Amino acid sequence: MLSPSLTLLLAALTSNAVGTDIQTPFISDELHTPPHPNATGNLVFNTISSLLQHWPNTRYHSGQTIVPAVIPEGTLLYHGRLDDAIPSSGEWTALDPEFSHIYCFDEPEKCWLLTLVTTRPLQVLYFDGSSATKSPDGTLDTQDLLTWGAVFPDRLNREWEYARLDALCEWGRETGFDAFLRMQLNFELMLCDFTRGVEVVSFVHLEVESMFPDHFYYSFIHTSEWHDHFPGDVRFQLDLTRVVSMYDTDLAPSLVGTRWGVERREHRVLGISPEDIVAVRNRISQPAQSGSGIDWRALFQVIKDRYGKRLQVLRHDLRDDSAQRAFRVVGNLLAPYLLRSGSPTAIYRLCSTAHTSYAASRPSLTASEGLLLKAAQETTREICRTLVNLWADGVENVSIPRWRREIDRLTAWLDWDVWLTCEPACDIDVGNMPSAWSPIFT
Ligand SMILES: *[C@@H]1O[C@H](CO)[C@@H](O)[C@H](O)[C@H]1NC(C)=O
Ligand SMILES: *[C@@H]1O[C@H](CO)[C@@H](O)[C@H](O)[C@H]1NC(C)=O
Repeated sequence: MLSPSLTLLLAALTSNAVGTDIQTPFISDELHTPPHPNATGNLVFNTISSLLQHWPNTRYHSGQTIVPAVIPEGTLLYHGRLDDAIPSSGEWTALDPEFSHIYCFDEPEKCWLLTLVTTRPLQVLYFDGSSATKSPDGTLDTQDLLTWGAVFPDRLNREWEYARLDALCEWGRETGFDAFLRMQLNFELMLCDFTRGVEVVSFVHLEVESMFPDHFYYSFIHTSEWHDHFPGDVRFQLDLTRVVSMYDTDLAPSLVGTRWGVERREHRVLGISPEDIVAVRNRISQPAQSGSGIDWRALFQVIKDRYGKRLQVLRHDLRDDSAQRAFRVVGNLLAPYLLRSGSPTAIYRLCSTAHTSYAASRPSLTASEGLLLKAAQETTREICRTLVNLWADGVENVSIPRWRREIDRLTAWLDWDVWLTCEPACDIDVGNMPSAWSPIFT
């Protein structure tokens, strides 16, 4: 039996959540229902919380997210080139000067470095994944959707890159974007107009840089490491109230079928229906709306911080057959929700809504925020569902094999990059690098 105060509390929580997509009316059923195989909450949660970070976007290199962002006034941009002419049309810039040197690769003795500073906030559109990699297997899909309204896997060479840039800039002029952000080894900004919103800081002919261990790789590889993990490159302020995700099954339902039975690394946008392309383009073209004010990026990171490290510890304890320690970790994770008089169902309810019930009660969420809320809900529900079930069993007896299976299943489903480490710790070598890196080290 629930105590009266708990019953009141649960009633309050439930009424707070009205209007959201709590699909299962009976919480006790939810406790025994794993996520639907076609649901994408974990994938949305994962991609959104990985934005602007090098490592996770190299690991899953086909982008799924398009998001408006702002670069504040006073930010430096770098453009390396082989002459001293300021570009009169769209060109590439880097956020780190080391990376701009790559444009002088062929003739380092002719290297000119143009440094610009933003004189007002620049409106930017960011494509996640390894979106500057010229690859036919999906890295350019989301850009092509916007520029040409279809995916063209063979438009990879230099001419197509300029055509893509020009098409993006033309679309940007209509919709208010100054530049486009992509990532490969580091972030690059495709700047449409070198005379608007920026001014020249310096334009100098550089000495040939001597680099160790060979040629130019060393220095720019290190620049990418600066942005490997959260918070990633901090020079961009994302507007998540307008984020568009290809994992949004309401916006792009045709992609559910293309992903069915396919490894996450192979997920791409090729195969999207014409109707869904129109819907995606319309969504991205909408003007800014005032959102709820919730800091979604922080909310997602708080959830990752709360569970990330300790789920890893739990996995270790189970590998070491340490039932007692494992039970204690689960107890720690659930501690804020372990009601004195609570049934597993009540504990699950509190745990699975703690981070989201306020957001769920807001009437003013944008469509994108609705997607983020759903992702946070599905993710925390599954974490709490797994932990509460284990905890309820463990009170009697921790079954190490069953706990192992369940924690392995949960962490595979969440697939957070915080767990991407060698165990035991490894040298910095190819084995620990996302595969897109490997060619550089061989
Ligand atoms: C998932 O979606 C695919 C493609 O639409 C469908 O064939 C499959 O039956 C769905 N799976 C479940 C369990 O509903
Ligand atoms: C505890 O679980 C183990 C493994 O599942 C089982 O062999 C054992 O009989 C259980 N003990 C009790 C007291 O339930």
